[in-house]
Amino acid sequence: MAAIPPPPPPPQVAVHPAVQPLSSLLGTWRGQGEGTFPTIAPFKYSEEVQFSHSPNKTWELSSGEAMHSESGYWRPKLDGTIEVVIAQSTGLVEVQLFMFCYGENFKNTGSAFRFYALMLYFNLQKGTYDEQISVKLKSALVGNGSKVNEIHRVFELINGEELSYVVEMATILTSLQTHLKACLRKL
Ligand code: HEM
Repeated sequence: MAAIPPPPPPPQVAVHPAVQPLSSLLGTWRGQGEGTFPTIAPFKYSEEVQFSHSPNKTWELSSGEAMHSESGYWRPKLDGTIEVVIAQSTGLVEVQLFMFCYGENFKNTGSAFRFYALMLYFNLQKGTYDEQISVKLKSALVGNGSKVNEIHRVFELINGEELSYVVEMATILTSLQTHLKACLRKL
C-alpha cells in the first residue's frame, strides 16, 4: 500500500484587521530569561515563544528538560482594549486585562490605544532611533492556581526584533514580586 503523504503546511491566513496593530508580535522568538521569587532559588532558562497557533514553551537552560508551557489568545476588543486569555501547563488559567500600551501601531485604533506615545530611544552606539511598543496587562481573573492570587505581565517590543517581558505574581504568601524576566529575538 502506498505511504500516506505528509500533511500539507497550514494555509496562510491574512491577519484580521483587529489584530493588525499586534502583527509584529506574530512569529517565533527565542532567547533567555531568569526567574526569581523570594521563596525560591533564582534560575535561568531558555525560551521559544510562538505568537501563532502553537503553545509557548520553556526548557531548562543546561539540561534542556521541559519546564513550563502555556497557550492563549490575544483578543482585541471593540472598545480598543485587549483581553488576553492564557492556560498554563500547571492547570492555572488567567484572564489578563490591558492596563496600557503605547507605540506607533496603536495610533488610530480604539479609545484606550489613544494613550499611545511613539517611544523613540536614541541608541548612542548605532546612532539610530529605536521604536518601542509596550503593553502592560494585569490579571482580572486567576483560576485553578492554588497559590497564585494575581499576575502582571509587561511586554516590550523594540524595532520589531526584540521582545522582552516581565512577569510578576502575588501568592497567598507573598505580595506582588517578579517571577520571570526574559529577552527573546525574532527567528
Ligand atoms: C515556582 C507560578 C511561570 C519556573 C512557582 C511557584 C508558583 C509559580 C506559584 C511556587 C512559588 C512558591 O513556592 O512560593 C508561576 C506562574 C507562571 C510561572 C503563575 C506564569 C505566569 C514559570 C515559568 C517557569 C517557571 C515560565 C520556567 C521557565 C518555576 C520554577 C519554580 C517556580 C523553577 C520553583 C519550583 C520549586 O522550587 O519548587 N511558579 N510560574 N515558572 N516556577 Fe513558576
